[in-house]
Amino acid sequence: MEVVIVKDAAAGGALIADSVAALLRRRPDALLGVATGSTPLPVYRALTALVRAGALDVSRARIAQLDEYVGLPQGHPESYRSVVLREVVEPLGLDEAAFLGPDGSAEDVQAACEAYDRALAGAGGVDLQLLGIGTDGHIGFNEPCSSLASRTRIKTLTRQTREDNARFFDSPDEVPHHVITQGIGTILEARHLVLLATGEGKADAVAQAVEGPVAALVPASALQLHPHATVVVDEAAASRLKLADYFRATFAAKPEWQGI
Ligand code: PGA
Repeated sequence: MEVVIVKDAAAGGALIADSVAALLRRRPDALLGVATGSTPLPVYRALTALVRAGALDVSRARIAQLDEYVGLPQGHPESYRSVVLREVVEPLGLDEAAFLGPDGSAEDVQAACEAYDRALAGAGGVDLQLLGIGTDGHIGFNEPCSSLASRTRIKTLTRQTREDNARFFDSPDEVPHHVITQGIGTILEARHLVLLATGEGKADAVAQAVEGPVAALVPASALQLHPHATVVVDEAAASRLKLADYFRATFAAKPEWQGI
């Protein structure tokens, strides 16, 4: 696992956008797994800026969703499908047809989950999966004690996650209890995992995920099992890392061509 400590969220966004750009230059039809929440927004802004400046062609890129609420009406502005369309697909000028996601309004949720895993595999697998981390250590919506081998399935949100996400809804009661999330096993199949964490509120979860044992209690610790995982953190989110100085020195000495 590589840990990169950046000055702030904007620097993290720019670093990851450059890595996505390098991938798309190598593989123009790469399948990009995107995350929702506040953290990845600087990545999408930086990518959009590259596209608008004419420095990057994303016209053949494909986008895959990480997780979704269950039971929100289709087209609800806070469904993750709507969020990804608004924050990623539209700003990049992509067509909705380039976008894969699970059906959170399906009658048969389990069948929708299985269909999504098949769709991801059928699309050749995710090339780069962007991840956030919950204050409880979740990735996607894999809450603590999710199986490290889990596939896309329905999960119940913890009270903490519902409280964390209440800011996106008119009232806390509106946050759905149930979600569909790519499983940890599904996420681990992506070729490159890039987790971005910013702010003091994530410092404990980051320290446990990076320096703690691999444990279902801290789902993000599963990144330790992946051969190409990059954790990008700002100074605040890095503040509880024991090896911060080592991580800084390693990145500073890294040849630029190597990327992340
Ligand atoms: P956030 O969410 O970026 O809004 O903090 C992260 C997550 O829950 O994965």
